[in-house]
Amino acid sequence: LTADQAALVKGAWDKVKTSEVEILAAVFSAYPDIQAKFPAFAGKDLASVKGSAAFALHATRIVSFISEVISLSGNPATAPAITTLVTELANNHKNRGVTQAQFNEFRTALTNYVSSNASWGDNVAAAFNQAFDNVYEIIFANL
Ligand code: HEM
Repeated sequence: LTADQAALVKGAWDKVKTSEVEILAAVFSAYPDIQAKFPAFAGKDLASVKGSAAFALHATRIVSFISEVISLSGNPATAPAITTLVTELANNHKNRGVTQAQFNEFRTALTNYVSSNASWGDNVAAAFNQAFDNVYEIIFANL
């Protein structure tokens, strides 16, 4: 990402990044097949697990990972660190049998969440799309 694109992504992400539980709930609600991959939540009613400590813990891990990658974006010097983190994420998820289609579902749900909860426009949307394209290129090469 350019520094300008990274600033747009950061500005939008800052509005949602403390809503960890709501973000994961939105992903699970839109795509139950993603919830079904989590041993702690598979087969359970979303409403019954959403308030649990385990749910908050998982949500915080996922959202913190995204925050870390975004914080490293927009700077060529930290691009290798992003590649390392994302390659490790891809390998962990490959071992769990997560598919490209599921990653694309996650992208749709997360983009919908951010676009409805942060100020959004064509420039922000384009920056988010570029960010996902960059990260998913690494993930899909390793999945
Ligand atoms: C665990 C991030 C997409 C299923 C995790 C963890 C992080 C994370 C940080 C905890 C660290 C680890 O164990 O690797 C992300 C990000 C995603 C993504 C940033 C998208 C860009 C998905 C998708 C699925 C999925 C699409 C399923 C369809 C899981 C499962 C775990 C996990 C099953 C392990 C939960 C457990 O410990 O029981 N994810 N994830 N993830 N993720 Fe993801």
